[in-house]
Amino acid sequence: MNFEYTEEHVAVRDAAREFAHSELLAGVIDRDTEGKFPKEQVKKMGELGFMGMMVDPKYNGGGMDTISYVLAMEEISKIDASASVCMSVNNSLVCWGLEKYGSEEQKEKYLKRLASGEIIGAFCLSEPEAGSDATSQKTSAELVGDHYVLNGTKNWITNGSSASVYLVIAQTDASKGHKGISVFIVEKGQEGFVIGKKEDKLGIRGSDTHSLMFSDVKVPISNRIGDEGFGFTFAMETLNGGRIGIAAQALGIAAGAYELALAYSKERKAFGKPISQHQAIQFKLADMATQIEAARLLVLKAAWLKDEGKDYAFASAMAKLYASEVAMNVTIEAVQVHGGYGYVKEYHVERLMRDAKITQIYEGTSEIQKIVISRSIIR
Ligand code: CAA
Repeated sequence: MNFEYTEEHVAVRDAAREFAHSELLAGVIDRDTEGKFPKEQVKKMGELGFMGMMVDPKYNGGGMDTISYVLAMEEISKIDASASVCMSVNNSLVCWGLEKYGSEEQKEKYLKRLASGEIIGAFCLSEPEAGSDATSQKTSAELVGDHYVLNGTKNWITNGSSASVYLVIAQTDASKGHKGISVFIVEKGQEGFVIGKKEDKLGIRGSDTHSLMFSDVKVPISNRIGDEGFGFTFAMETLNGGRIGIAAQALGIAAGAYELALAYSKERKAFGKPISQHQAIQFKLADMATQIEAARLLVLKAAWLKDEGKDYAFASAMAKLYASEVAMNVTIEAVQVHGGYGYVKEYHVERLMRDAKITQIYEGTSEIQKIVISRSIIR
């Protein structure tokens, strides 16, 4: 066992921390209030190599391991979870799937630009009637000559309007159930592809979440990833890694709120002494620190398993389940430590509390993680 980070891990973590403080912090409250996508900041994240961290350098990626990725995700999420979900989707749901299962032509055409952050991508699985029940895909892709014709609606798509490339899951043969689902690369601007309204959300308000409508959209056969019928496995495999990214995001939200609460507790005086000297607050801080450390170990373990080429589906589900529960608990307590100041925007913790909630919902709700975990245990 070795609990030490390598020099490279520390350098990546410190670079992400520095970027978050210098580039993301200043406008984060305004972007949250206005629901404004962090466009310039995401562009800089691409320039610094944060948008394709694990991709092979030959496709313009950083060639880093998953541990580096989760360390960067944690630091960026401490400050701005709207920026970090954009980063997470691009890295783990779009670049990873394309690199692992895409054709050489697809990698040349799309992955290189996605990994460098020149463009960003979106992952389109959820539908109005297929959220947790992801096998119930209604979006269809019918093969007509040398292309597919795509019809249907996708919901709650992260990077919905800012993406240029969309990985779209669709039924190619409904009679085969989930084994008749395929996955396609769709480009923005294709005829019949309409981006719906932006969702007005509780948290991660800077992230652009949209519904997408496909009406007779022509997709060339060369834009199908893998064989027909591979789409559901693609989605599940991709989400196994995606959940490590969201677990790291949840960890960062929790750690960010905890750091603010700890600092505040040393400054704020009540009954003649800093509130950190009151046992009621000390116990809260102790619980927060313990939960965060446990979540961090689960996140790092899942990342390590992935890097070692071992099975990580079970570990990523556990990491996401636990880290997202910790994010919710810790942010609620961070608001409590701040008292009335915690309830106003200026102190950041109310935003982190709102942002925390989505980590229990997207990339598989906590209940879905329990299904994944329990099936692994019982099988
Ligand atoms: N890894 C690999 N394969 C998996 C898997 C996993 N974690 N979970 C299921 N599968 C495979 C199964 O082995 C099975 O394959 P075979 O038929 O070849 O054996 C197939 O998928 C179907 O699985 P089930 O029979 O278990 O199907 P089910 O309907 O009972 O349950 C589910 C499937 C696990 C509930 C799945 O539907 C699921 O994960 N749902 C949640 C979907 C989700 O996470 N959505 C997130 C949307 S993306 C998002 O949020 C991104 C964003 O913008 C931030």
